Amino acid sequence: MISRSDFGEDFKWGVSTAAFQIEGAHSLDDKIPSIWDEFTHRKGKIHKGHHARMACDFYNLYPQDLDTVKSLSIPNFRFSLSWTRIINQDHSVNEKGIAFYNRIIDGCLARGLEPWVTIYHWDIPHFLEEKGGWTNRDIVSWFGEYVEVCAKYFGDRVKHWMVMNEPMVFTGAGYYLGIHAPGRRGLSSFIPAMHHATLCQAEGGRRLKFLLPQAEVGTTFSCSLVEPINDSPAHQRAAVKIDALLNRLYIEPSLGMGYPVKDISLLSRVEKYMKAGDEERMAFDFDFIGVQNYTREIAKRSWMVPILFATLVGAHKRNVETTLMNWEVYPASIYEMLKKYGAYEKVKKIYVTENGAAFEDTLMNGRVEDKRRVKYLNDYIAQVYKAKQEGIPVEGYFVWTLQDNFEWAEGYRPRFGLIYTDFDTQERVIKDSGYWYRDFLEGKELLK
Ligand code: NOJ
Repeated sequence: MISRSDFGEDFKWGVSTAAFQIEGAHSLDDKIPSIWDEFTHRKGKIHKGHHARMACDFYNLYPQDLDTVKSLSIPNFRFSLSWTRIINQDHSVNEKGIAFYNRIIDGCLARGLEPWVTIYHWDIPHFLEEKGGWTNRDIVSWFGEYVEVCAKYFGDRVKHWMVMNEPMVFTGAGYYLGIHAPGRRGLSSFIPAMHHATLCQAEGGRRLKFLLPQAEVGTTFSCSLVEPINDSPAHQRAAVKIDALLNRLYIEPSLGMGYPVKDISLLSRVEKYMKAGDEERMAFDFDFIGVQNYTREIAKRSWMVPILFATLVGAHKRNVETTLMNWEVYPASIYEMLKKYGAYEKVKKIYVTENGAAFEDTLMNGRVEDKRRVKYLNDYIAQVYKAKQEGIPVEGYFVWTLQDNFEWAEGYRPRFGLIYTDFDTQERVIKDSGYWYRDFLEGKELLK
């Protein structure tokens, strides 16, 4: 039986959110459109045509939501800043957007909650996408200026920063597969987007640290344990490639190791976009990395996939327990990923900045009995503990997410929250998992 205190006094417990998924108020106070505002208008892109114009109306209801975070005894609140509330189309600063985030930050501090800020959680301004977005190298200076504005206005109170959220996902899904905003496809979009995101990742870190030397500066990575379907050398080779793509592509350049070109030869196409000095520019000595883990992936060799010759075997084909996202429930994945990232010499500190699950939740008589989520969180947190026990420098854990929200292309269907959101009335109901997390944090509930 493991209790909160076993993790130590300094271990950071929290909950994570993201601007576009919760805020709503899509054009209020002169907010300009982001690529997601534009993408959600396009036909056939989002489950049932859902959009996030209202989402959880966090823009207006944040006092109530922060009160709930406090009432659940969650000490750390992670949220992201929306570039499109902060920067106007003429690149000037939108004071109303600044005022909104000041209200959030001050609202956290007044309640004794520690604010953790992500600078970029996927919502680049649409007018910048029209100039090429992440495929245009000018983004390094656009992004740099935005980061400096954030540091300047919020750095007096925000002590924990994350430059980016899951660059592999927003470049892979948004610029290679076309299933996320801005809906571009193919390597000719992906490779430059990848390179510029990598440069921005480090550039953002440098600018934050320069302006806020006392702050803790990190960035986050999506990751999943990748295993071969069996131990034949061809499948093992496929697993190495997919692991390089999903788990190493963004962290290794930041550690000064360059892109994993040896394992994914197609990455050599990046040379076309590299300038002298880029190898050094891609590196930054982050104070911490954020690990975001949900599932495990199984890889196999495939002739059908040109260039990579590797593919994933979906969880539905494997007869394993899955979540509503069709992601395998596999708690050991988080342990393995912490071990993998902890083994990089230059990684100093790790926070699990996201982990959670979407299940079929039903509100009955004012209650959501989400037993499967409680078990999921219990089992994953126990694996985090195991990693910590083995000396891996993992020093925090944040649940994804506070309340059911807009799950990107999946719309409102998957519910990931500790709190149930009624999207018609904006009523919130704390799920059993929310109470379970509270009891765990208050030392009344132990991990099983
Ligand atoms: C990754 C992303 O950071 C977040 O926006 C998303 O909702 C969750 N994981 C669940 O898919």
